[in-house]
Amino acid sequence: MKVVLSYSGGLDTSAILLLLRERGYKVVTVTVDVGLDEDLEKVEERAYMLGSHKHYNIDAREEFAYKYISMAVKANALYEEYYPLGTALARPLIAEKVAEIAKAEDADAVAHGCTGKGNDQVRFDSTLMYHLGPGYKIMAPVREMGLTREKSIEILSRHGFKPPGSHGKYSIDENMWTRSIEGGPIDDEWMEPPEDAFLWTKSPEEAPAEPLYLEIGFEEGVPTTLNGEKLKLHDLIERLNTLAGLHGYGRIDHIENRVVGLKSREVYEAPAALTLINAHKDLEKLILTPRELRFKRLLDQEWSDLVYNGLWIEPLRKHIEQAINSINEYITGTVRVKIYKGSLQVVGRRSPYSGYSKTMIDYNKGWYPTGEEAQGFVKIYTMHSINTAWTRYKKGVQDNEATGERLIYT
Ligand code: ARG
Repeated sequence: MKVVLSYSGGLDTSAILLLLRERGYKVVTVTVDVGLDEDLEKVEERAYMLGSHKHYNIDAREEFAYKYISMAVKANALYEEYYPLGTALARPLIAEKVAEIAKAEDADAVAHGCTGKGNDQVRFDSTLMYHLGPGYKIMAPVREMGLTREKSIEILSRHGFKPPGSHGKYSIDENMWTRSIEGGPIDDEWMEPPEDAFLWTKSPEEAPAEPLYLEIGFEEGVPTTLNGEKLKLHDLIERLNTLAGLHGYGRIDHIENRVVGLKSREVYEAPAALTLINAHKDLEKLILTPRELRFKRLLDQEWSDLVYNGLWIEPLRKHIEQAINSINEYITGTVRVKIYKGSLQVVGRRSPYSGYSKTMIDYNKGWYPTGEEAQGFVKIYTMHSINTAWTRYKKGVQDNEATGERLIYT
């Protein structure tokens, strides 16, 4: 029996690899690079050391950036207004790659390291089921056997291996869009996240005393330049993570509603994601009509919820994306941000599609309606509200006693 394992190189998937081998499976391992700090050659070495039959390293950085992250920027994707969806976006891509290899290897099953109380099982399983069809065996040893971190360490040492990485307090998942930190001391929702939870961001207190100014260029909603330099999206993201992170920007402390009925306390680092989403949102305000802007916020939220909830395969996502893409055709321009000791402010924006006119808005020399125009506008614009409010709250004022007719404000 051959099984394809989605292998991160971390503690749990390393223990799963050993467990599957103990049970007599031939294990093919797959590591998908979505912008990890991890050295993939080391991961491959570890996989073979633990008995992988064949290992695949797949560089999906560009695909992750252009197919998944660019859409997340266009959708200003923040789950419950806080979480930029790093893990949620990467899972469908990783699962798709695993499914491709399962087919190519003619494997009997696929395996992943998700627990039974997290969101990732939904994201993995749904994508795998979609690509591999009904009846295909999906193994998730952590959720099937209640594999805990202690048990994983025990399995590794039984085979004479030390746990990989720094497996102290936290459970960490990272890709170029978000570094997510869970568990350990962070589970105490009252306690400030300890400094050792963070890796990408300097503490704001220790950030440089000088602010950092950046100019981000967008074309049709997608970030394309940083300080005037044209960059591939994944390179731009990596640079921004370093720059903004150095200035203490990008930390998130979030109480999150999981798909599985639990609230969890999540800590994230996402300097590039937050910078780009804030800049993109600002550009939208400059360009879109109020109706486009308000309606788009509903689309953005629905898109983010689908992705978070593991429903990447839901057809509604495509309909929403058509609308989001169509609105983003005009989101071209440049945004200037100032990052200072952990905070970000947009301090300038411009666009060929800008709806803003400083000539018209000028208090002294700008455009004014005539007094009559303005008064007429206000009267007709507020007519519904005033008439209804009179009817409800000023009974007696609105009725013409002689004729019994209602007196309407016209
Ligand atoms: N709560 C986030 C999500 O569901 C991140 C989960 C990442 N996992 C971790 N072990 N840190 O997408």
